[in-house]
Amino acid sequence: MTNQIVLVLDFGGQYKELIARRVRECNVYSLIKPGQTPLDEILAMKPIGIILTGGPDSVYRDGAPKCDPALFDCGIPVLGICYGLQLMAYSTGGTIAPCKVSEYGRTQMTVDSTSVLFAGLEPRQIGLMSHTDQVAVLPEGFVSVASTVHCRNAAIANKKRELYGVQFHPEVENTPNGTEVIWNFLYRVCGAIGDYDMKDYETRMIAQIREQVGATGKVLLGLSGGVDSSVCAALLAKAIPGRLWCIFVDHGCMRKNEGDEIEAAFRNRDLNFIRVDASADFLSALSGVTDPEQKRKIIGEKFVRTFEAEAKKIGKIEFLAQGTIYPDVIESGANNSATIKSHHNVGGLPKDMGFQGLVEPLRGLFKDEVRMLGRQLGLPEPIVSRQPFPGPGLAIRIVGEITADKLAILREADAIFREEMKKSRIKADQYFAVLTNTRSVGVVGDFRTYHYTVALRAVKTTDFMTCEYAPLSHKLLSRVSSRIVNEVKNVGRVVYDITGKPPATIEWE
Ligand code: XMP
Repeated sequence: MTNQIVLVLDFGGQYKELIARRVRECNVYSLIKPGQTPLDEILAMKPIGIILTGGPDSVYRDGAPKCDPALFDCGIPVLGICYGLQLMAYSTGGTIAPCKVSEYGRTQMTVDSTSVLFAGLEPRQIGLMSHTDQVAVLPEGFVSVASTVHCRNAAIANKKRELYGVQFHPEVENTPNGTEVIWNFLYRVCGAIGDYDMKDYETRMIAQIREQVGATGKVLLGLSGGVDSSVCAALLAKAIPGRLWCIFVDHGCMRKNEGDEIEAAFRNRDLNFIRVDASADFLSALSGVTDPEQKRKIIGEKFVRTFEAEAKKIGKIEFLAQGTIYPDVIESGANNSATIKSHHNVGGLPKDMGFQGLVEPLRGLFKDEVRMLGRQLGLPEPIVSRQPFPGPGLAIRIVGEITADKLAILREADAIFREEMKKSRIKADQYFAVLTNTRSVGVVGDFRTYHYTVALRAVKTTDFMTCEYAPLSHKLLSRVSSRIVNEVKNVGRVVYDITGKPPATIEWE
């Protein structure tokens, strides 16, 4: 990339991705790096500006994350946010102290509209605050440019050294004019020219793919039908028409009509689409298996083997493409947590297939940017806005043993739920039906029934690490329940899962 770059240095705050996204929304490319990235590495990237994120620590605590203090003297404009502001003030000779009254939530501020940070804004502003420390004594050369009732230095500025700090969070929606503050920093302080947008990304990526792959190179991609692999396929097909081979392994645990929809979306593109119906094979490997991790393992391994066998039939292919996106890059290697579920995406491919290189054209993009690129490339909306669907598919939504009959029941129930959700226009980030392994007694006409219970799950979440259940209306739930028990054979009861994560997880298995 030859775009101007703004670096977001991470000090452990929960909003680092949001900051990077806001910068990109302002048409400036951003990259997130650890707060302790050595200064020479930072300078080598030639950023036009640096933003220090918030973080949970106190700067005066031993071991609190710090950056090289020389960062504030290297001539690159810096904006510190929350902990980032405190670190800047502390590193340049100011004093940080605990607040007499901590501030949390939307807070009224008085800002100095003559300061470049607040140019174009009214003096009364709302800022989201979340802090227990504050700048007690300003470093030399700094002035306060915003205050609240309890915080004298809600924003600070040193115009000469181009150092700015805000105690509030301009990156969140609860700071209504926060994006303007970031825009002001980028355009009025850093000299941004706004050279980044999705059209530009597409053009650059196409050129980069062509350069990497050469005039004759062929590329292989595992296409799952998910947003990332689909957009990756559409972009590659445009970059190297006719030289992309997509293998779509249908493991038989897809949702209703999903395989056909995926095939239809790619039929008229300039790529070689290979659909492998391996459902019988997968089903027999899963026969009698009830343990969720075992199901994942079997599906993951079988997927790799099926993919390899299919790839061999194509002949020599030099490159493997993957739909890796920026959050995967940021998070990789940062995971020391216990394995609750082994989330290997189907698509996690073997490393030893003898490829000359790996093509990852979405590595720089956030999820919503991937969707934007997908729309730009003309992919159908159901694919571009598709909700996350686990690699092992319905296999981990059927509690207990998987059979063809159970798959058929779940597919129908799930399709009804999704159809009604779509019609109701209620927003949930992920929603689906689960076939519980519980059967219960019912009565239809004068007869006793003993049928399965279907559970509905709809959640609201931003990161899928935690979630709340979506408060669906009783009217909607009644309609879905009545449709499912009437239209789907062998289902006699429908329940709604109202558990959050934690303690539950989103999927049942
Ligand atoms: P959980 O159930 O862990 O789900 O709360 C969080 C998110 O991850 C998805 N998920 C998976 N995705 N392979 C995947 O590719 C898996 O084995 C898997 N298990 C869960 C889940 O759908 C949710 O979006």
